Formats: sequence, structure tokens, C-alpha cells
Amino acid sequence: MEIISNFSLKSLNTFGIESHAKFFAKVNTVNQIIELIESDSFKKNNHFILGGGSNLLLTKNVDALVIKNELKGIEKINEDADFVWVTCAAGVVWHEFVMWCIDRNYGGIENLALIPGCTGASPMQNIGAYGVEIKDTFFELEAVELATGQLKTFTKPDCEFGYRESVFKRQLKNQFIITSVTFRLTKVPTFQIEYGAIKQELDNMQVSNLSLKSIAQAIITIRSSKLPNPKEIGNAGSFFKNPEVDEATYLRLKNEFPNLVAYALENKNYKLAAGWLIEQAGLKGYRVGDAGVHQLQSLVLVNYGTATGNQMFDLSTHVLETVKQKYGIDLEREVNII
Ligand code: FAD
Ligand code: EPU
Repeated sequence: MEIISNFSLKSLNTFGIESHAKFFAKVNTVNQIIELIESDSFKKNNHFILGGGSNLLLTKNVDALVIKNELKGIEKINEDADFVWVTCAAGVVWHEFVMWCIDRNYGGIENLALIPGCTGASPMQNIGAYGVEIKDTFFELEAVELATGQLKTFTKPDCEFGYRESVFKRQLKNQFIITSVTFRLTKVPTFQIEYGAIKQELDNMQVSNLSLKSIAQAIITIRSSKLPNPKEIGNAGSFFKNPEVDEATYLRLKNEFPNLVAYALENKNYKLAAGWLIEQAGLKGYRVGDAGVHQLQSLVLVNYGTATGNQMFDLSTHVLETVKQKYGIDLEREVNII
């Protein structure tokens, strides 16, 4: 396995930001991971796991051995009358896994079509979109502990999934390299089309027989219409989370801003649409040099070309401060900052 020093990460992060890794290695098998863990380069340096680089903001050079996870393979490992259990290696591109399942009529992740990145990163923030999160179909994952080289299995409760959260983003940050994820998918799909503009898009498509494929196609169309394609404009999707507030805070804001966009949660709290807060604070399309708030989706910060990680970070701080000043709400960054 080749370990390269002073390696440019510009093409490996969807913000397209220049940053160099002190060392860089690709791993294709669990054995290579273990071999790497036993190497001097590993023992003498910090380490950082890289997937598709679509949820990262690099604000400096990475003073670490960057390990790019390229483990491949998808396998049906079990089934009963209603479900199939499918294991996907961590380096498989998430959207390719979604389409693999759709081709076999395995249901449950079709609403998550077109989310960038690798399957191994999907549990990191319990990726979600259009009313579905991976925790809904997650069964278990395997990961190598970097300190010991041991392969461990994590069940759903072990992962402590929340909204854009898991134990791997918190207590176990940088301690495990996820090698595969197993999902329990349905043989007879339950279509989830209540969220957002899905029904409308299916109507536009004049779909007569609903299928996993038509739902995924509707979602691909909706996403492509509002989210910038990282191949054209650098971005990492939503830069901030949608904040959860208690009922009193919601009522205070609703009184002051009657058009506030918010969703009632089961625990009686409310989730506020951060994109609305940012837009109504006058920041939609706001731009400093090449760092900007996207013109169609204010929750997405974009690099128009040559912005540095620090310029993107400063823009995010400006957004946080502006929202705090106008609404008294603290936004939280979703993107992993290095
Ligand atoms: P990376 O960015 O490479 O890494 C993210 C984090 O995970 C890092 O901390 C990294 O160290 C860690 N990590 C990566 N792989 C492993 C591994 N194998 N083991 C251990 N740690 C690992 N997210 C959503 O939830 N919903 C969306 O709708 C959505 N839409 C997006 C749209 C666009 C246009 C973009 C650019 C991003 C979007 N995202 C969305 C964010 C992003 O796609 C997801 O967070 C994705 O799961 C990141 O995967 P990645 O492989 O690129 O991870
Ligand atoms: N809105 C505005 N102005 C904006 C953006 C949004 O008013 O500039 C309003 C919209 O009109 C809508 C509401 O906010 O009423 C919600 O917008 P949208 O449906 O676009 O979703 P979002 O809340 O902005 C979330 C996720 C996305 C996910 C979509 C679809 C978070 C942080 N973001 O965005 O995930 O794809 O819902 O489910 O939860 C990501 O995590 O990177 C990501 C893209």
C-alpha cells in the first residue's frame, strides 16, 4: 500500500478547497486497514478517515495520515418473507447503493437517492432527506477500532442515532473506521411520499404505477432543482442543522414573524427551517469574494471558485451571528470542520 506525503485534497472535498494531507493512503480491504494501523506512519501521526469529502470544510492543511476508504462490494446476506438484509462496504458510493437496491426492488432508502458521499459515512450523521433517515432501515455496522485494530459490530442502539447525529460524530469521533453497513430492507415496499414536494413531482411525471424507481426519480428531480451540484459549484449540502426549539420560543417567533416555517415534533418542540431564517435575515445570495450563501437554498454555503476554508468558515460565522441577532436562535454547523 502506497503512503503519499504532502497530498492535495482539493479534488477529494466537494467544497473544492485546497488543503494538503501530511500523509495519504487508500485502503481497499480490512486487512489493508490492519496493515496500515501497524505501520510507523500510522503510529507516529494523527489520523483522519475520508469518504467522499461531501460533508467537510478544510480550513487548514491536515496534519494527519488521511485514510481514504475504498472498500467495495454489496451482498445480500439474509432474507425472510418480508425483508432482506444487505451489507454494503463502506467505500461504495451511497447513490450507487441506493440504485442497486431499487433495481432489486428492495425498499426503504429510495428517498435518500442522490445524497453524495460513501456508504461508510452514512451512519456518521444518520443521513436523512424527504422524511427518511438511515436509522429507519439500519441493522448494524462493522468498524475497525484504530487503537487496537479489532473489528467491532455496532447495533442500532450502539450508534445513538439522532437528527444528523451518531456516537461516531461525538464520543467515538475519529476512533473507528467503519468498514461495512448492513440494512434491513423491505421486499414489499411502503412508499413514503408525504414529505415536501414529492407528490407534486410524481404528478408532474404523470406516474400511474408508483414504484421505488419513480419515487427516486422524483427526488432526484427535486434535489437537482434546488441543491447546487458540487461538480459545478463547491458546497457540502446544508451547512447548518435545522434548529429545534421549545414551544414558548416557537410562539414568540411566530408572533413576531407570522410566516415562520416550522414543523411540530412529537416531543412538543418545533423544528425551524434554518433556510427560511437565513433568507429572511437578508442573506440569501449574500457573497463575500468567492464565498457565498446559495441563491436558491440559503442553508447551503457555496464556493464559487477560489474561496479558502477560512473564508467559508468566516461566512458561516457571519450567518450564525446574523441569525442570532435577528431571532435569538443559535444555529449549529452540520458540516465537519477540520
Ligand atoms: P466525508 O465528507 O468524507 O466525511 C464526513 C465525516 O465522516 C468525517 O468526519 C469523516 O472522518 C467521517 N467518515 C467518513 N467515512 C468514514 C468511515 N468509513 N469510517 C469512519 N468515519 C468516516 N446529508 C444528508 O444527511 N442529507 C442530505 O440530503 C444531504 N444532501 C447533500 C447534498 C449535497 C449537494 C452535498 C454536497 C452534501 C449533502 N449531504 C447530505 C451531506 C453528505 O452528503 C453526507 O453527510 C454524506 O454522508 C457524507 O459522506 P462522505 O463519504 O462524503 O463523508
Ligand atoms: N426555505 C426558505 N428559504 C431557503 C431555503 C429553505 O424559505 O433559502 C424554506 C423552504 O421554503 C421550505 C423549508 O425552508 O419551506 C425547508 O426547505 P427544504 O425542503 O429545502 O429543506 P431544508 O430543511 O432546507 C433539509 C435537510 C436537507 C434535505 C432536505 C430534504 C437539514 C439540515 N437539511 O433541508 O439535507 O435534503 O431537508 O429533506 O436537515 C444536508 O443535510 O446536507 C441536506 C441537504
